[in-house]
Amino acid sequence: MVFFRPKVFIARKIPRGVEEYIGRYCDYEKWDSNEPISKNILIEKLIDKDGLLVRQTPIDIEILNSAPRLKVISNIAVGYNNFDLKEMKLRKIIGTNAPGILDNSVSDLIFGLLLSSARRIPELDRYVKSGNWNIKDNENLFGLDVYKSTIGIIGMGRIGQAVAKRAKYGFDMDVLYYNRQRRLELENNHGYKYTDLDTLLKTSDFIVLMIPLNNDTYHLIDQRELELMKSSAIFINASRGETVNENALINALANKKIAGAGLDVYNTEPIDRDNPILKLNNVITTPHIGGSTEKTRYNMSLCAATNLVKALQGEIPPNIVPELIWDILH
Ligand code: GLV
Repeated sequence: MVFFRPKVFIARKIPRGVEEYIGRYCDYEKWDSNEPISKNILIEKLIDKDGLLVRQTPIDIEILNSAPRLKVISNIAVGYNNFDLKEMKLRKIIGTNAPGILDNSVSDLIFGLLLSSARRIPELDRYVKSGNWNIKDNENLFGLDVYKSTIGIIGMGRIGQAVAKRAKYGFDMDVLYYNRQRRLELENNHGYKYTDLDTLLKTSDFIVLMIPLNNDTYHLIDQRELELMKSSAIFINASRGETVNENALINALANKKIAGAGLDVYNTEPIDRDNPILKLNNVITTPHIGGSTEKTRYNMSLCAATNLVKALQGEIPPNIVPELIWDILH
């Protein structure tokens, strides 16, 4: 009996051990650069491939049209807004993600951004390193208290809950949340309070946005929502850039309508060098690195590789994205 070895393209650098795992079951080619792969190269590489491993690379109709053998696209990420779900459905291409692994890593980063913004740590670091010290009564450098303040979490999924836990049990904060579905068990067990979105925006000292990007959440935070926030509010986004109207956010920050922001995600990634965000002192930026600790990235890559291999072996992979499950199983 001849065993068919599927052909795979690995479009993102992955740890050596995970690459070896894929190599046990598949023939593969890989993109070996830290730069994102170009669309033209991806198209060329997919002509004869059965499987694709990506991390947030947009997969559009043009790419799918050039990949006649493709059976599975495995995303090394939780969010899969880079998939064209409609076109994948039509072609019965399995799409998978890697949920449940990065929750604590992203929550740690969210809290890092929150604390850094509140206490202006990067700004003060630059201040000290450029030879300054004496801030006696220099109110210009004072920050905001986190302890016992109010946090409003938009999106109470796994990451939202991990943030809430840190807020409540680490910093004795009041936790407000807004979510598609009310989570009574969280209210009963932890005392978190459900509010409508406007109330959350008006009353929170720190607003954390942690929702997936889809048609319902595109620009969920726009000018109107920013205007509802307190002038002392700090806004944190570690979900996807397009959940916020970035121009409206830039205006609110530049005109001090809100006190500050901590951002891990942007409308365009990598961020454009001339994006005004990069000139604002009241914004702290990180390069979409929420889930990127060594351990978490290894485990996410392994999860995505397992999804890929299982799908190519004709098994049902553990993490088919919910919108495609029905079509793949029927
Ligand atoms: C990261 O942003 C992810 O969706 O995994």
